[in-house]
Amino acid sequence: MEGAILGLEGVYRTFKKGRTLIPVLQDIDLNVMPQECICLVGESGCGKTTTGKILSGLLKPSRGRVFFEGKDTTSLRGAAYNAYRRAVQIIHQDPYASLNPAHTIYSTLSFPLFRHKLVKHYNEARERVAALLEMVDLTPVADVIDKYPHQLSGGQRQRVGIARALTTNPRVIVADEAVSMVDVSIRIGLLNMMGRLQAELGAALVFITHDLALAKYFAWEGRIAVMYLGRIVEIGRTQEVIANPQHPYTRVLLSAIPEADPERTRHKQHIQLRSEDIPRLTELPPGCAFHPRCPWFVPGMCDSEVPTLERGADMDTRVACHPLTRGEPLTLYPA
Ligand SMILES: Nc1ncnc2c1ncn2[C@@H]1O[C@H](COP(=O)(O)OP(=O)(O)O)[C@@H](O)[C@H]1O
Ligand SMILES: [Mg+2]
Repeated sequence: MEGAILGLEGVYRTFKKGRTLIPVLQDIDLNVMPQECICLVGESGCGKTTTGKILSGLLKPSRGRVFFEGKDTTSLRGAAYNAYRRAVQIIHQDPYASLNPAHTIYSTLSFPLFRHKLVKHYNEARERVAALLEMVDLTPVADVIDKYPHQLSGGQRQRVGIARALTTNPRVIVADEAVSMVDVSIRIGLLNMMGRLQAELGAALVFITHDLALAKYFAWEGRIAVMYLGRIVEIGRTQEVIANPQHPYTRVLLSAIPEADPERTRHKQHIQLRSEDIPRLTELPPGCAFHPRCPWFVPGMCDSEVPTLERGADMDTRVACHPLTRGEPLTLYPA
């Protein structure tokens, strides 16, 4: 897409497990525009983390291309490749596992500064680390900077994880379930801080979550991409996707979000799936992978060809669903 800072084109990724190849991502096209917030949502195992790692260069696609500022990243060498890796930073899901327990906060945060030659000497590094800790509200800095991860709370550790992602002045931050492991009571504080930092730094944010309610809250001004079993099934502006969900899977996800008013939750349309079983990646059903569960399944159409993402009628949202992209109304199966 014109002007995208980061993009995936036709990305596939497989993992080997014994003798079988597991198709974890299939035909992913995704563009990240400068300063936008784009949310990847979908249930556990649908490939969100793998997508985030490929975006940030931690994993290579098995097939397909990753573009940074319009250039294929496999063609980048030396300084240009390092600039890409610096520009895209990831905040990992688990603040316990992603911080080295043997390193102090200063040492964790100064390491990338020295590695990328962003500071020259100790005093400069101390100053920069202190400024980073202030940015993520870990103050007074003197109480935190020389501590070890185990001496901090879970919420404080995740703030260190966020500060580490900011060390290289990234243009894209991939936040992978960044608040899933912390207590609900401190989630909103972390989310608000991430939103504020994103705006201040002018970075784009790829916000990964299994929780559509969180996506709705966080990416209200941005876009949402809904994933199901390794593919994007719907992508569009958050407000449009929430107000007018297209793909049957998106409708199911939305119908499962409780409303603040219990009375409204009780009266919410509950969508009855044809099956609760999620197919294995190694035994994907033919055609649309959602068809065995889809209440609006059309035999002969949905179970033959894999649907590609196309624009739905009268809207910008793109959706991978045969009946919808052919302009046919959804009718319950069996009709
Ligand atoms: N390194 C790996 N080796 C083998 N399988 C993997 C590896 N990483 C992820 N997977 C598998 O890929 C699928 C998608 O994983 P992931 O991208 O972590 O999904 P999500 O973040 O949406 O939960 C899962 O079935 C997972 O078991
Ligand atoms: Mg994940």
